[in-house]
Amino acid sequence: MSFTAPIQLPGLTLDPLWHRRSVFYQVMVRSFVDSNGDGNGDLAGLISRLDYLQWLGVDALWIPPFFTSPLRDGGYDVADYKSILPEFGTLDEFRDLVTKAHERNMRVIIDLPLNHTSDQHEWFQQSRTDPDGPYGDFYVWSDSDEKYPNIRIIFTDYEESNWAFDSERRQFYFHRFFSHQPDLNFDNPAVHDAVFDIVRFWLDLGVDGFRLDAIPYLYESDEGNGEGEPKTHEFLKKLRAMVDRDYPGRIMIAEANQWPREVAAFLGTEEEPECHMAFDFPVMPRIFYSLRSQNAKELVQVLSETTDIPEGAGWGVFLRNHDELTLEMVSEEYRQAMYGWYAYDPRMRVNVGIRRRLAPLLDNSRDELELAHALLFSLPGSPFIYYGDEIGMGDNIWLDDRDASRTPMQWTPDRNAGFSTADPGKLYLPVVQSLVYNYTQTNVESQLAQSRSLLHWVRNVIHVRKAHPVFGLGSIHVLETSHESVLAFVRSYEGAGTQFGDPAEDVLCVFSFAHNPISVTIRADDLAGASLVDLFGGSEFPAFDDSGSLTLTLGTQSFFWLHIGSH
Ligand code: NOJ
Repeated sequence: MSFTAPIQLPGLTLDPLWHRRSVFYQVMVRSFVDSNGDGNGDLAGLISRLDYLQWLGVDALWIPPFFTSPLRDGGYDVADYKSILPEFGTLDEFRDLVTKAHERNMRVIIDLPLNHTSDQHEWFQQSRTDPDGPYGDFYVWSDSDEKYPNIRIIFTDYEESNWAFDSERRQFYFHRFFSHQPDLNFDNPAVHDAVFDIVRFWLDLGVDGFRLDAIPYLYESDEGNGEGEPKTHEFLKKLRAMVDRDYPGRIMIAEANQWPREVAAFLGTEEEPECHMAFDFPVMPRIFYSLRSQNAKELVQVLSETTDIPEGAGWGVFLRNHDELTLEMVSEEYRQAMYGWYAYDPRMRVNVGIRRRLAPLLDNSRDELELAHALLFSLPGSPFIYYGDEIGMGDNIWLDDRDASRTPMQWTPDRNAGFSTADPGKLYLPVVQSLVYNYTQTNVESQLAQSRSLLHWVRNVIHVRKAHPVFGLGSIHVLETSHESVLAFVRSYEGAGTQFGDPAEDVLCVFSFAHNPISVTIRADDLAGASLVDLFGGSEFPAFDDSGSLTLTLGTQSFFWLHIGSH
């Protein structure tokens, strides 16, 4: 099967690589716009700001769960996969969202937590009260809480065991996350059928794909650690085959917080593909590490470890999301360094990570924010922006758990930051009123009015990226440099010559993590004599000399994206 040939549907030709060209935007329904003044964001509110997202250059939305839920884990505790939480809206409004997004050439990816449900889900209620009934075997029950000792606890601040006792059934049930989130039993074929039914339901409704929440954890085994067990991969292959066959062009994105090789495994192989994309968890913490260590070696190392992935598959690059900045997949030494730099107040930590937003993490430094975004938009993969980070929104570490960075979007300096007309006390979370990030200063309206604002800068960089398909589709080659603070790589794309008309291009990207100006020499034998032109302003730069060497000077924490011309 070819993953790059155009997908033909009756009357329609689809670009099979749309996900690799797209800029994604993670938007939580509850946090974006409240259209009816009840204090919660809703679908109608989100629809009303699609024009803003289109203006920004967003190609695809990732919407975290909005299903019926007790909201004890931000909606990742689903009580009914086929209905929408009433305060968020209705299925008709969701259909409207899909239609209006598609009218703007914007795709819609929804989140699907399949590993577990809420304990309020009807399946669980029946499972605990009727062990011999149709749902008796839908969850992972045991008489002992000592099974699977190799399986680690993820929410270390909240849970002491992955087992909880149910007083009704008088057995323990397994839970990878909170104890109110029992794990589904994927060893039961009826669970597969139920999951396929949910997937079809939303695909029939028009969504363009799914973020598959917590996907490594579907199966447990006595020998393994319950992360990416062989049967989990088998299930993903089966799901992918169904999606490719019945819904070509729709995608699956893996949320797999694992070491590099294990993450890549969720993309499968050429012959047996699994997800179309996987979040690049290995790269993310190393971006933050490099910013403070002023050393590029961790990034160089991780970029060289990124194993081959199937044609058509891609990475989802991100700086922040709705969870803590996870430090699970870095060494203890680096973790301690990161805590010291980024979470000096214990309130900033949760589980094995840091519960802060991008701008506060980077101390609101414009240089660092630009450098971090330049990496986000030029590393291999598709960029994912977390709502509000485009204006440098702050967080609120006095709120619980990950709510610290899930506060209302700041639109204007008016009441509730223009998010809602409700009485301020009624909001699902208060708007940020801290000294530096107060919504009266940090908001979309004021940044629209300042031509040099972060918002305008981010929009510009998005549009520059989109004008150069090499960033989404090209390969990467990391170059040798004379300075430990500098990361330099070439992105290359030979041009597909398809009907989607992608031009061939090579781009040199250079980043300096140094906290002072520096001069660096970059070596690339095959670029001897190559001319260089800045992608932003079009200025000509000095060319590589005849021996393949180039000397550049870079200001504090700065970068260049340079088109490589003839040589
Ligand atoms: C991963 C989600 O991103 C997180 O927010 C959630 O708490 C866990 N999965 C459990 O569903």
